Amino acid sequence: MFKVGIITSSDKGFAGEREDKSGEIIAEIVEAKDYKLERKVIVPDEEDAILKEIIYMADDLKVDLILTTGGTGFSSRDVTPEATIKACDRMANGIAEAIRYYSLSITPRAMLSRAVSGIRNKTLIINLPGSPKAVKEALDYILDSVHHGLEILTDKAHDCAKK
Ligand code: MTE
Repeated sequence: MFKVGIITSSDKGFAGEREDKSGEIIAEIVEAKDYKLERKVIVPDEEDAILKEIIYMADDLKVDLILTTGGTGFSSRDVTPEATIKACDRMANGIAEAIRYYSLSITPRAMLSRAVSGIRNKTLIINLPGSPKAVKEALDYILDSVHHGLEILTDKAHDCAKK
């Protein structure tokens, strides 16, 4: 069972002024797919706070997967990709590209996502958009392949079964 951490980047959510619907939806989806939810937090849209949480989840809790939601757009407070890049030792941007590719078939606004994905040691980190609808669309599309990626990253699988 892979361990998951969820980080919601939201000034309003952190201040208790907005319900964290996207974080809840991620939790529901991953738990239904048999991932173990290890930690779920809301942090303000600040690079240091996001980076610190990613490092804590990856290095101390040793989660296999970190899913972030929010903070990937164009607002000056949107800094989730910057924090994620700092945390990663290897980028794995095919996942972020796949999310944008699929999302563009739903809305052209998907081009406004600056989301990235990458690896810190044995932990995969994926930025998801902020809206609950977008989060569900993205996760439904990527989760099967992400699961296979996690098997390889954690040495549980060594080659790619041809599909
Ligand atoms: N992706 C999907 N699948 N569905 C959506 O509705 N909305 C987009 C985009 N990605 C959207 C999507 C919009 S409107 C923006 S501004 C960017 O994600 C960035 O979102 P964020 O700032 O909430 O992270």
